[in-house]
This record gives sequence, C-alpha cells and structure tokens, in this order.
Amino acid sequence: MKIFTSTAIAHPNIALIKYWGNKNQILRIPVNGSISFNLDRLFTKTQVSFDSELTADILFINGIETTGSGLSRVVSFLNIVREIAGKQIFAQVNSENNFPVGTGIASSASAFAALSLAASNAIGLNISEKELTCLARRGSGSASRSIPDGFVEWFPGETDSDSFAVSIAPSTYWDLVDLVAVVSHEHKKVGSTAGHELANTSPLQSARVEDANRRLDIVRKAIINRDFQAMAEMVELDSNMMHAVMMTSSPALMYWENTSISIMKNVQKWRASGIPVCYTMDAGPNVHVITTKEYSENINQRLASMSGIKQIFTAAVGGKTRLVEN
Ligand code: PMV
Repeated sequence: MKIFTSTAIAHPNIALIKYWGNKNQILRIPVNGSISFNLDRLFTKTQVSFDSELTADILFINGIETTGSGLSRVVSFLNIVREIAGKQIFAQVNSENNFPVGTGIASSASAFAALSLAASNAIGLNISEKELTCLARRGSGSASRSIPDGFVEWFPGETDSDSFAVSIAPSTYWDLVDLVAVVSHEHKKVGSTAGHELANTSPLQSARVEDANRRLDIVRKAIINRDFQAMAEMVELDSNMMHAVMMTSSPALMYWENTSISIMKNVQKWRASGIPVCYTMDAGPNVHVITTKEYSENINQRLASMSGIKQIFTAAVGGKTRLVEN
C-alpha cells in the first residue's frame, strides 16, 4: 500500500474588478482580466491522500462524505492533475471551510486553490506559482487569484498557459479590510459556473467587457498609490456593471436582496461623509464592505446596527496558498 499525502490552506478572495463570462468555458479562460485581494481570516484547508488501495476518489467536506455534483467536479479536477503527472491513482480529499459556502463568499476559489496545491504536491508535481494559478483556474476561475499573495491580477490570456494570475502587491502593502455582511445563509440558486455561460445572453455584456481594461488600469494604479477614493468609485461601478449583466441575462439572475440594497446605499452615504468605504457584491446576496483598518470598527458598528444582517465576517488582506503539516 502506498499513500502520498499533502495538506494546503488557501484563502478566498474578493474581486475589485470582476470576472464574469468565459471565452473558453472548458478551460475557464475569461473574457476580461480581474483584480482581487485574498481574505486572511477565512480559509479552506484541504488534505489530499493519493492511495494505491482506493478504487475511486472520495470527498469529505467539513467531515461529511460528499457525492453528486460536488464530487464530480473534484474528480474532473483530479483527472487533470493525474494526466499532468502521468499517474493513475485515486485520492481521498478532506476539505474544511471556516465560512458558509455558496452565499457570495467565493468558497470555490479557496477550495480549488487549496486542492491544486495539495493534490499537485502529493502526486509529486513540482510546478511554479504561475503554473499553479493555471491549474487552479481549471477548477474555478477565481481560484487562480487565491494562489498568489495579497493583491492579485489575473490576466485573461488566450490559451491554457497564458491565462494566469500574479501578485501585484503583497498582503502587507495596504491595510484594507473586508467586512462581509451576510444577508442570507441560503445556498445560491444559480452558481457562478452556470452564470458565466449566461453572460453573453445580456446585451450589456459587450459594453462591460469593452470598458474592462480602463477599470483594471484605474484599480491597479489606485492599489499601487493606496488611493481609496479612486479605487472605491471603480469597484462600485464594476460590481454594478456585473450585476446589470446578471439582471439582464436570459434567464435573469437577481442576487440582490432588500438588505443588500440598504447596505449599498448606506455605504455610499458613509463615503460621501468622508469615510473611506465602498461595496462590492459577488454571485450572492452578501455585501462585501471594504474599508481601511482605521475605520473597520466604526463600519462594523454601523453595519451591526442595521436590521437584516445575519452575521459579519471581518478579513484583512491575506497571504498566498501554502502547504501546512498534515
Ligand atoms: O470562479 P467562479 O466561477 O466562482 O466565478 C467567480 C465570479 C464572481 O465571484 C462573481 C466574480 C469574481 O471575479 O470573483
């Protein structure tokens, strides 16, 4: 009996400029670049054990054996890893999240980032960080951005090897904080993989994509200059543009809840009063409220006094995906 085990930890990330829609759905090559930062306190920890005695892959998420579509997605991903390594050996995957899945905190990003590193290391592949971002992308596009440290840009590219992500500033560069206002714990009805396929059905998608490089340039520069105001306006515009595409797709995707709208309106009021704060939303009803460390307690209190918010997670800028002790 031969067992090869590795364990990795990865953080989810929040996109400041969003990824929505693919040029190549199978390879998950996006129609536009995106920029995000990792979320330090939230994580997925994944252990992968390739075991010569196993006759199929098995998956446990938070200690519960998972079958169906969750398992199929992991098996498809492990098939890619096995093909690269040229080894036919099955694995047991144990994955744990310390945050709720499927509610707008990108659990698939940290899940596939941790799985990429743990699986590739356990099977004996020695690949660069850039190659690891390409591998993670095959599991979930945004997972590519959870591999490098801190603030990360994913270049869309055209092929499997040139659609990769790099760190544009380390986690210590700017003390931003993401307060994730949880509006609902319900599992979202249409996940992002299916959502990307609908992006082109919206007449607004081409305008969103055409303007993406301008938004990317402004946000990249704003991060380098630590210019909150310049970043804030683009981040909100970009989130609104993605949700406009979602809402005008066929079928329409409407992720906003009443509480999400109240939070977004309040955030705009607070920024108008001089506080560095902005919002962004992913494919779910939760609102990511981004501010600086200096204002995070103040914003936390303001959010806590609003009705309809079930929970608030606070995360600073996080590090890269890394191996840990088994
Ligand atoms: O990586 P996916 O397929 O879960 O897509 C992520 C899509 C958004 O979270 C809505 C935007 C983004 O760039 O993270």
